[in-house]
Amino acid sequence: MGGLDLPANNDGAKNTFISSTNDGAAVRVTNPPPSSDSSVNLDISDSVLNLDVGDPRAFEKFWKRMDEKCKVTISGSEVMSYVSDLGNVCWFLEPKLRDAIKRVHRVVGNAATEDRHIVVGTGSTTLFQAALYALTSSPPPPPGAQPVSVVSAAPYYSGGGSRGLMVFRSPLLHPPDPSNALNVKVNPKRCFKDVTDYLRSGLYKWEGDAYTFDKDGPYIEIVASPNNPDGTIREAVVNRGDGKVIHDLAYYWPQFTAITHPADYDIMLFTFSKGTGHAGTRIGWALVKDKEVAKKMTECITISSIGVSKESQLRTAKILDVLSDDCQSFGAISENFFEYGYAVMAERWAKLRALVKKSNKFSLPKYPQESCIFSGKFKETFPSFAWLKCKEDVDLASLFKAHKLIVRGGERFGVGREYVRISLIGRDEEFNLLLERLASVLGI
Ligand SMILES: Cc1ncc(COP(=O)(O)O)c(C=O)c1O
Repeated sequence: MGGLDLPANNDGAKNTFISSTNDGAAVRVTNPPPSSDSSVNLDISDSVLNLDVGDPRAFEKFWKRMDEKCKVTISGSEVMSYVSDLGNVCWFLEPKLRDAIKRVHRVVGNAATEDRHIVVGTGSTTLFQAALYALTSSPPPPPGAQPVSVVSAAPYYSGGGSRGLMVFRSPLLHPPDPSNALNVKVNPKRCFKDVTDYLRSGLYKWEGDAYTFDKDGPYIEIVASPNNPDGTIREAVVNRGDGKVIHDLAYYWPQFTAITHPADYDIMLFTFSKGTGHAGTRIGWALVKDKEVAKKMTECITISSIGVSKESQLRTAKILDVLSDDCQSFGAISENFFEYGYAVMAERWAKLRALVKKSNKFSLPKYPQESCIFSGKFKETFPSFAWLKCKEDVDLASLFKAHKLIVRGGERFGVGREYVRISLIGRDEEFNLLLERLASVLGI
């Protein structure tokens, strides 16, 4: 498998970032990847820029201003128990997080929380797995039953695949020292297909594109809205009586799109990773109508990890509360995270569209303006990924690679190679470098 276990080369000059590319070739970059220390200044002018993964660092400057307000102190004797609240279906959900989640949805208006059970997970990725388990394990399938089909309409959220594995040396080791080098493998496989199939479960099985799905029997459709990769607002497409639907609403937040109504589906997944950009905290939550489904989801997480970090939950609760307070305070515009985030995304999209417009070979999706109940304004969707199409039949990801840009090709999402998905939620330096290089990809 290309890209696995590449030795992180040490040339003694700078930290080394090695990324395997789609054809398995190693690309060595003599500048570090974005560091987890936001104070480190990066010179990335000559780097291969990895825009394959949607690491949400575009909003760090906002949260830097909130450093003090968002501080959480946890003393030595706190949150030592496995248990948070035995009276709750999800017994490892911290009451503070439960309240903060309900409040932020009320403030934003993006989801109904009344009469729902909240299940917390280590990111919404684990909740997707838990939902598949819950929807297929109860009642237990009869002996010999076929696995339940899992589908999503193409282009669907998809990982980079084994050939997209990255291996990089810790950016914080400077100068690099081979004796204590920390090699980190980042496997971007964590999407609908991979999460469905990696355990080779007998309960469910990935069946691909919901548009072409024609198998009889029970199925689960996963609907991401706004969709990753193409940013479209979506509804279920199979719509048969024996089907169940999981709604992944990771991007249904006002920095990305108009909030047109409170979502009101049976199972809704949200994530702190995209809601505020705090992907490292690894918190997601599910709003679940049916108590039995919520119980089964809780059981799945109990079996796999006996709960979810309380420290992460308390940090999430604190930040969500700060965010809700600021949204309700009608203070300066810069204090409202969603207004800030929307302005960042709007500016990036304006620059990107202006560039792409200069080429008659490439296009980006168009999104309608919708009335937003959160801001009271008409708003366009500004997705966290650009879904770029070339009108000619080219392997677009390879073309990008030749210009030192790693992006995810359309075939990974169940469509053609003339599409690529480009992350737009990196840091300013990365976005600016993207624009510079994109001009040469587009031939303008
Ligand atoms: C549609 C969608 N769902 C879920 C996730 C994963 O979220 P988490 O970080 O909470 O696991 C992502 C991350 O990119 C995503 O795009």
